[in-house]
Amino acid sequence: MKKCWFDYKTVIVSGASSGIGKGLVIKLVKDHGCNVIGIARNEQRLMGLKEELGTLGYKFSYYTFDVSLKEKWVEFAKTLEQEGIQPDILINNAGILPKFDRFENYTLEEVDKAMQINFYSCVYSMNELMPIIMRSENAGIVNVASSAALCSLAGTSVYSASKAALKSFTDAVREEHRDKCYFGLVCPGFTKTDIFRNQSESTDKAQKAMDMVSSDCDKMVDWIINGMWKKKEDMIFGVDAYLMDIGNKLCGTLCSNVASKVMKISGLGMFKSIFE
Ligand SMILES: NC(=O)c1ccc[n+]([C@@H]2O[C@H](COP(=O)([O-])OP(=O)(O)OC[C@H]3O[C@@H](n4cnc5c(N)ncnc54)[C@H](OP(=O)(O)O)[C@@H]3O)[C@@H](O)[C@H]2O)c1
Repeated sequence: MKKCWFDYKTVIVSGASSGIGKGLVIKLVKDHGCNVIGIARNEQRLMGLKEELGTLGYKFSYYTFDVSLKEKWVEFAKTLEQEGIQPDILINNAGILPKFDRFENYTLEEVDKAMQINFYSCVYSMNELMPIIMRSENAGIVNVASSAALCSLAGTSVYSASKAALKSFTDAVREEHRDKCYFGLVCPGFTKTDIFRNQSESTDKAQKAMDMVSSDCDKMVDWIINGMWKKKEDMIFGVDAYLMDIGNKLCGTLCSNVASKVMKISGLGMFKSIFE
């Protein structure tokens, strides 16, 4: 395999216990010989991932904590320093998708939780880890936002806001450190992972509809790894994400309007409360 700038580097991946994060860990360890430090709350799943890596399991270590707690990132950074670990790359991937709903149906606690996990966790991690990562000659920070950051649809006010905040934040910090660190921003479209577990309807019809518009998780992971390899700054992956990006650039709010109408016409239960 051709040499890649992050081969054998030390990479921190948040949200490593499932979906895209888990896929990234497997690829980074198996295809690039990286030492990966995973972060998530579910220890059982992290242990399972270590086992799944078999003889390469020694290349994966993990810490279990809630990424929305600033003090945990402070502790984590201290531990890295004490143990003499020099991370090269940070991938802020942990995130949640609140139930699709109208804005007024969310409690303020739900809004706060989404902002804390999807946005502030990255502010905290970058605040603590950027000075350490910047010491590496191959420094990189990759933040996983969403196509929802590019075009807001009905029912996604809170999620879109949290991911748009992450996008703007990343774009600005990149310019502040352009020559010292690679900053990637990933905006995946719908991807087949467990992130939809909290949506109200998971009937066969809803599942089929979601499957039709969603990218395979392995494919998404490949796109992200290839994007990082080329040091791409904007990584918009999946046909739906691409259409949302182009649609928003060309037609502005008309794109949000048309896509939201499609959600309404679909009649899917998970979008029902939005349009009632
Ligand atoms: N799937 C999609 O369609 C899609 C589309 C666009 C963007 N994204 C973004 O892609 C990223 C990965 O999502 P996914 O689809 O792979 O979802 P997933 O399968 O639900 O994985 C989410 C990961 O985040 C971790 N996590 C969630 N809250 C956490 C917290 N408070 N503290 C620590 N870890 C936490 C989870 O681990 P624990 O539960 O073990 O803590 C899990 O490992 C997210 O940022 C998501 O917004 C996904």
